[in-house]
Amino acid sequence: MKEAAENLVKTPQILLSLYAPIQVGLHQVEEVFRDILRSKYPFVDDLVKYGFRLGGKRLRPALMLLSGLACGGFGSEHVLLAAAVEMIHTATLIHDDVLDEATMRRHLDTVNARWDNETSVLLGDYLFARALCLASSLEDVFASRELHNASRIMCEGELRQIESRGDYSLTEEQYYDIVRGKTAALTASCCRLGSHCSGAKLEVEEALAQYGLHLGVAFQIADDLLDVQGDEAKVGKSLGTDLLKQKSTLPVIRLLEQASPEARNRLIAQLNSSDNHRRELLRPYWDNSDSIDYAHEKAIVFSQLAVQQLDVLPPSPARDSLAGLAEFVVSRQH
Ligand code: IPE
Ligand code: IPE
Ligand code: MG
Ligand code: MG
Repeated sequence: MKEAAENLVKTPQILLSLYAPIQVGLHQVEEVFRDILRSKYPFVDDLVKYGFRLGGKRLRPALMLLSGLACGGFGSEHVLLAAAVEMIHTATLIHDDVLDEATMRRHLDTVNARWDNETSVLLGDYLFARALCLASSLEDVFASRELHNASRIMCEGELRQIESRGDYSLTEEQYYDIVRGKTAALTASCCRLGSHCSGAKLEVEEALAQYGLHLGVAFQIADDLLDVQGDEAKVGKSLGTDLLKQKSTLPVIRLLEQASPEARNRLIAQLNSSDNHRRELLRPYWDNSDSIDYAHEKAIVFSQLAVQQLDVLPPSPARDSLAGLAEFVVSRQH
């Protein structure tokens, strides 16, 4: 219980109030981690515990539990699945930090920085396997199938992102499509499963899945803004890696679209250069364009689309928290 409490203490104040209706459930999720994330092999045990260190926002478990509560209540099935989705998410972060050559995550060294890439690949696989095993321990295969499917879509999204690396003709629609895969498929699954396990009608389940999908896109746009503009000390993870890895994110797509042909060529040359200070190089460009505001406004549009989906739910504190979370993800500094 102590570890669980410490984790919630590290959560930003606004999230603590949005999470208030599901506080008990979130503590139970931390208890599941404590019970199952262990190995009889000390090296593996240390790694698993490090991989699951404190400090994540626990957004996906919160979406699962709030969706359940908004549809009537949550129980042990929700708690187990909330633990499973956070493990899947953490596995993707451990892998993502290898892909992005990131050195900081949740305010600490990444697994690849502290150990190496080989360890990260295997630890991510281990957590994936553990999560899917946990989900498949339920008698009903619905959740297990949903999470396997979401994992496949996430990998497709990440692979398509690799394919589009350095492609500065990527359109806004193609960008949203990649983001729906790499980020929003899992947030959509959290909300679908939360409502499904509470016995919600199919129509409500679909609306909540759409809420999770739009919220995931809004969340990733905000994340991409943090990558070019955020403060590493506050966010607690390596930033600027999208630029280093030549990912065309929304602010960059907009910047290139609005630039004159000469400025566009100059910009692309800088984005392709081996100079490691692209964040600094781009600063004057942001100041002289509407790209940051444009991306922020798009994030707000997706957040509003998410909130509209909540009309199918009766009023409740859980529904208010879901609406509040959609607003939080676009203004977050964490
Ligand atoms: C980071 O997710 C990865 C993305 C999908 C952008 P979070 O910002 O939810 O990471 P934690 O769990 O709080 O560390
Ligand atoms: C990764 O996106 C999204 C995943 C699904 C792992 P990012 O590369 O932007 O995530 P961060 O910024 O490293 O957390
Ligand atoms: Mg990354
Ligand atoms: Mg990012």
